[in-house]
Amino acid sequence: MRWVRIFKSIDQAKAAIEEGKARRVVIGERRIALSRWNDKFFAIQDNCPHSSAYLSQGWVNARGEIICPLHNYCYDLKTGREFEEKTEDARTWKVRLDDEGLFIQLD
Ligand code: FES
Repeated sequence: MRWVRIFKSIDQAKAAIEEGKARRVVIGERRIALSRWNDKFFAIQDNCPHSSAYLSQGWVNARGEIICPLHNYCYDLKTGREFEEKTEDARTWKVRLDDEGLFIQLD
C-alpha cells in the first residue's frame, strides 16, 4: 500500500473541488473521481460500473452518494455501493487529509 499525494494542502484541495462536486484524478492507469462532501474528501472509480460514464462529472446528493450524470445511478462515496443494487458497486480508495496535504491510498 502506498499513499499518493494529490494536493499539497487542505486549502489547495478545497480550491480545486467545490462542495458536492468531484474532479478526475489520474494516477497511472487509474482514473479516480475525487469528490468533496460535508468538507470531507472521497475517492471512487471514475468510470461508472453501469456504462462507463464519468462519475467525476456527476454531483453528490444529501445522502453522500455520487450521482452518475448519464442515468443517475447513485454510489455511496464511502463504500461504492450502488443505491438500488441495479449494477456492480464502484471501487473506492481511502483518502487522508493532514498538514502535508491530501493523499489517496493505492494498493
Ligand atoms: S453510465 Fe452511470 S448510471 Fe449509466
